[in-house]
Amino acid sequence: MFSSSRTLCYALLALTVSAAAHNHGRAASKEKECAAYEPAPRSNSAVATSWYAGWHSTTGFPLSKVSWDKYTHLTYAFAETTPDVRLLTLNGSNAELLPQFVSEAKKNHVKALVSVGGWTGSLFFSSNVATAQNRTLFVKTLVNFARKYKLDGLDFDWEYPGRQGIGCNTISPSDTANFLALLQELRRDPLGAKLTISAAVSIAPFAGPDGMPSKDVSAFAKVLDWIAIFDYDIWGPWSPTVGPNSPLDDSCETPDNQFGSGASGVKAWNEAGIPMDQLILGVPSYGHSFRVRKADAFVNGTDTLASHPKFDTADPPVGDSWDDAAGNDECGVAQGPGGNIDFWGLIEQGYLTQNGDFAQGVPHRFDTCSQSPYVYNTSAEIMVAFDNAQSFAAKGKFVKSKGMRGFAMWEAGGDSNDILLDSIRKAVGSY
Ligand SMILES: *[C@@H]1O[C@H](CO)[C@@H](O)[C@H](O)[C@H]1NC(C)=O
Ligand SMILES: *[C@@H]1O[C@H](CO)[C@@H](O)[C@H](O)[C@H]1NC(C)=O
Ligand SMILES: *[C@@H]1O[C@H](CO)[C@@H](O)[C@H](O)[C@H]1NC(C)=O
Ligand SMILES: *[C@@H]1O[C@H](CO)[C@@H](O)[C@H](O)[C@H]1NC(C)=O
Repeated sequence: MFSSSRTLCYALLALTVSAAAHNHGRAASKEKECAAYEPAPRSNSAVATSWYAGWHSTTGFPLSKVSWDKYTHLTYAFAETTPDVRLLTLNGSNAELLPQFVSEAKKNHVKALVSVGGWTGSLFFSSNVATAQNRTLFVKTLVNFARKYKLDGLDFDWEYPGRQGIGCNTISPSDTANFLALLQELRRDPLGAKLTISAAVSIAPFAGPDGMPSKDVSAFAKVLDWIAIFDYDIWGPWSPTVGPNSPLDDSCETPDNQFGSGASGVKAWNEAGIPMDQLILGVPSYGHSFRVRKADAFVNGTDTLASHPKFDTADPPVGDSWDDAAGNDECGVAQGPGGNIDFWGLIEQGYLTQNGDFAQGVPHRFDTCSQSPYVYNTSAEIMVAFDNAQSFAAKGKFVKSKGMRGFAMWEAGGDSNDILLDSIRKAVGSY
């Protein structure tokens, strides 16, 4: 509906323009009307948000399933960077749906953002911000994109400035400084100044020229509304043993099992100069699965699941129907199946009941150090580290106790019946 009314507006504009030899004023005012849009005002209030993965709109999570009333903001993923600084692409993300996403969000008083980048979409961030000329062009690209889709904001998901992500991103020791310069220039643009602008980041502050986490990133707090710290993919199939996808804390782990956590990430970003009320916690609605042989899965002689068992890297399990199949990635490198299982996938596969509780007869444990649940399929020899209502409640309490701005879930469609969303919202408090 939205896009047809927009098409109508432009069709009228074309008519007006062709008739406009006599009437410049009317054509100009019509053009203004088509273009008229104001982003929703930026605000300091609490944030309850998720990313909406455009490509899952046709595989089980259409817009009609979004619980709009439980969000303050929703972010459409992804507009990917391209080799041309003048272009972003929604090619992987159901571009046709974005106008409808924006209009639904507005109807529901939810602010609509688009996330730029992502794991496969960050290849050209570094070159896009490398020179003053490219930054100016990229600012124009971003602002035009926001205007075209009438967005309330932009989210930058650069994985990662100054550090390799997928494997074939362009990267430079100046990435972090150039990124800051880009954001400062974006804020000097009249529309850029009004947009809600966020960044999605790893638990380590942006890399400095030496590749190490920067000690002072406070200048980013002046240009960004908030920073969402990914507390996920901390452990996964690349890790030495099974471990939590999304540890809230790891200070009670042995030193060789400390790979960071939500708590360590929040501490690091805060100490590097981002105020607590500009930090939000990124939380996952999915888990990672591992092939763990029966002999390794249990504490010997008991039916208690072992902590950090080894897993069979030669036989990676397939996750649910949204899992990435084995194949070549964007860099052309062969990959096994991802092994990701969404919260709904854990229910569908019988690990959890419809209510999200551990299903009867399924070996499980809740690790109180990381605040993470695990389940095990004895016949398939699959162990899954994931998040449930209990772990999301712990994360919500943490957000509240630290005075953080809120939470961001990857991804809206991973939940089942809002079990996770309701749990973290309740623990954080009111919006
Ligand atoms: C997006 O897809 C279209 C159609 O397949 C193609 O023509 C275009 O080049 C793609 N754009 C980008 C930036 O990849
Ligand atoms: C600037 O952007 C263009 C792409 O539009 C790219 O080809 C060029 O390499 C970029 N400049 C630098 C120094 O990276
Ligand atoms: C159980 O005992 C076997 C044999 O002693 C050992 O190889 C294995 O690592 C033990 N498993 C755990 C989880 O302790
Ligand atoms: C465990 O895996 C088997 C296949 O080996 C499957 O039939 C069964 O449904 C799975 N159970 C759970 C709880 O995932």
